[in-house]
Amino acid sequence: MNKGQLLYEGKAKRLYQTEQEDILFVEYKNSATAFNGQKKAEIEGKGTLNNRITTLIFEKLKELGINSHFVERVSDHEQLVRKVDIIPIEVVVRNIAAGTLANRLGLEEGTPLKRTIVEFYYKDDDLGDPLINNDHIDILGIATKEEVETLYEQGLKINSILQPIFQDVGVILVDFKLEFGRDKDGNVLLADEISPDTCRLWDAETKQKLDKDVFRRDLGSLTEVYEIILARLGGK
Ligand code: C5P
Repeated sequence: MNKGQLLYEGKAKRLYQTEQEDILFVEYKNSATAFNGQKKAEIEGKGTLNNRITTLIFEKLKELGINSHFVERVSDHEQLVRKVDIIPIEVVVRNIAAGTLANRLGLEEGTPLKRTIVEFYYKDDDLGDPLINNDHIDILGIATKEEVETLYEQGLKINSILQPIFQDVGVILVDFKLEFGRDKDGNVLLADEISPDTCRLWDAETKQKLDKDVFRRDLGSLTEVYEIILARLGGK
């Protein structure tokens, strides 16, 4: 499969056409961004690490019955995916209070939640990705009621698959963000990536942060902790 015309460039990835209409080429970039693009850096090796980690996670999810846009990894920093129209909703699943939830509700970071919660954010950089509810989604007309139910259920199901996978390798899955898209038949498919860029992952014993918070909060080398996650998931 050959890389064709550039279709889209985001903060962390570039999407290219291929000769097959429903398949796209994804290139993972080395850019790291945080706080809606206000903090930026180029980090050698980051694209490769996220491409490899996302591949391992999407492959594990597929084995356990969750289909995604992922087709195959084709190089260190590239993969092929099925073409979908991204639904502009970020689905955040949380097991432990951290990040914006801790700030919004005044909870101490690390407080376990009595149950897993799912939140929706409107994917809109100009608005700063605001938290939205089902009524907001309805008036914006960005997803149907049935689709919103699917996003919620898939969020919980993916959490119930990923939590034990990470637990088995000594990692706590604190929270994560998912994106979904519609294929040409209107089926809702998991899309984007699942990596330490989009998850909070803590070492189960030391509580060391093994995710993008290392970059957000200047806690050390991002690639060193992403390497730890890749190795624990069985990658190299
Ligand atoms: O910042 P916040 O606490 O809301 O993030 C919750 C989870 O969603 C974190 O794992 C974070 O990395 C992820 N996230 C993301 N992309 C965003 C916002 C949050 O991957 N635009």
